[in-house]
Amino acid sequence: MWILLLELRANQLFTYSLRCLIVYPWTQRYFGQFGNLYNAAAIASNPKVAAHGKIIMEALEKAVKNMDNIKATYAELSTLHSEKLQVDPDNFMLLGDCLTIVVASQLGKNFTAEVHAAFQKFLAVVVSSLRRQYY
Ligand code: HEM
Repeated sequence: MWILLLELRANQLFTYSLRCLIVYPWTQRYFGQFGNLYNAAAIASNPKVAAHGKIIMEALEKAVKNMDNIKATYAELSTLHSEKLQVDPDNFMLLGDCLTIVVASQLGKNFTAEVHAAFQKFLAVVVSSLRRQYY
């Protein structure tokens, strides 16, 4: 599963980040510095959105490689999202849901219930680690 995820990294997986901005439009408010997010077409063709999607995937790859210690691995990232970016932590799982949908659509029938369960468990740890430095 993780190998598949990493392979997909180079593929269309980045569409999850633009999907999050379109499906949950309030998430756009954190990305004022990204320029034009006026509609779905603008979001899809915004190079900063794609670049940011890659940055998040790299962070997820780091979590995969530090599976036994995701909380410590994400300590700084959690502080950044809490104190500097002030991202509402409820948004983390919304982004996770978008990622799940894109992974499922790419894997098709290989995205079995077992794979889904493992992926969900991984995302739950990622999200709780990102929430850790919030008061
Ligand atoms: C799985 C969940 C997430 C992960 C792993 C993640 C990871 C990251 C990483 C690695 C960075 C770059 C940090 C740096 O420059 O040192 C970042 C930046 C940022 N993240 Fe997140 N993030 C997640 C979810 C979110 C969500 C849901 C939002 C808002 C709705 C958000 C908003 C931001 C913003 C505004 C930045 C700064 C972007 C910039 O100015 O370039 N993140 N995130």
